[in-house]
Amino acid sequence: MSEVHLLRVWPAILLMIVTLPCGAQSLRQEAQQSGVLIGTAVRPAQLSETLYATTLAREFNMVEPEDVMKWWVLRPDQGTYDFRQGDELIRFAQAHQMEVRGHCLIWGRNNPEWLTTGHFNPEQLARMLHDHIDRVMKHYAGQVFAWDVVNEAMDEKGNLRDSIWYNQPGIGMAGQGTGYIEQAFRWAHEADAHALLFYNEAEGEGMNRKSDAIYAMAKDFQDRHVPIDGVGLQLHISTLDTDAQKLAAELSKNIARLSALGLQVHVTELDVSVPVDAFGVSHPEDLARQAEIYRKIVRACLNNAGCTAIQMWGFTDKYSWIGSHSHGTHGQALLFDREYRPKMAYRAVLEELSAGRQAMH
Ligand code: XIL
Repeated sequence: MSEVHLLRVWPAILLMIVTLPCGAQSLRQEAQQSGVLIGTAVRPAQLSETLYATTLAREFNMVEPEDVMKWWVLRPDQGTYDFRQGDELIRFAQAHQMEVRGHCLIWGRNNPEWLTTGHFNPEQLARMLHDHIDRVMKHYAGQVFAWDVVNEAMDEKGNLRDSIWYNQPGIGMAGQGTGYIEQAFRWAHEADAHALLFYNEAEGEGMNRKSDAIYAMAKDFQDRHVPIDGVGLQLHISTLDTDAQKLAAELSKNIARLSALGLQVHVTELDVSVPVDAFGVSHPEDLARQAEIYRKIVRACLNNAGCTAIQMWGFTDKYSWIGSHSHGTHGQALLFDREYRPKMAYRAVLEELSAGRQAMH
């Protein structure tokens, strides 16, 4: 290593020595030993930023496109499939030995305007959806190991949400309960029989009406051999009042009942946002509480053999959906700050991954 180069990396090395627990390595090295995938949502546009790319490659062994495999990016118009940004992410993942989770084939949101305002009838929508699933999954076959086939189809009571795919006007199965979801899983399995197929949902992580409905659907699908492999639990946490102990206990219970059906569970979109002032500044004690919530969630996953991946919805506070989503009231939801320095939450996650799946033995 040249002296100039050494001088340049020295502050970074010093920072690692100061901030990492004794003997611990990166998240991905510790995760590998625990037999769990550790992932993050990625915006390919940022891959050209050196610190973004080096932190990502060092810490994670799984990536998921935050937006670039959704309809609104893949389908700029009815006749076009634009795979460029998704392909860029795949190339990065392959160059750094990372798995890729696909997200998402069907969602009532993040759809292009030509689709939502196109006044298509159910037969047309069914044909378009089938074609989309088929083309996209075949394009990424062998490169994307798991797909969120259907995203956020239920409301907080566990009823099906109105959507273009379900009943507005839907693909011809409006009013037939989870029938359209089943159809999507069957098409997905036909398109790529090797990909793991997930149902991904928000706010159904603990024990509540929504997680009961997800469980009931998953059980019904398993009983009738509908091809489903797993359930994704998003875990966007937006209140620090969350009783971390209670959440972890309920999460464990929910993961256990889903695993008992023979399904895998992935934590798919974990972030824990904290209140920030108009300048984006938070209270240090909130960051400590945030770290505890991260710690308990990671522990709950590691304590259940059926929980096979833990993924965050981004990794640096520089790029997170929380700012715009909360209209600036919340932020700092991720493991690294805006300068890519590891936060308390990072240490908590690293420590739990280092401790591994020990509680099971
Ligand atoms: C969000 C992205 O982070 C934003 O960039 C985008 O503007 C909107 O979607 N649940 C999901 C994710 O399943 O796809 C959402 O991602 C966050 C909530």
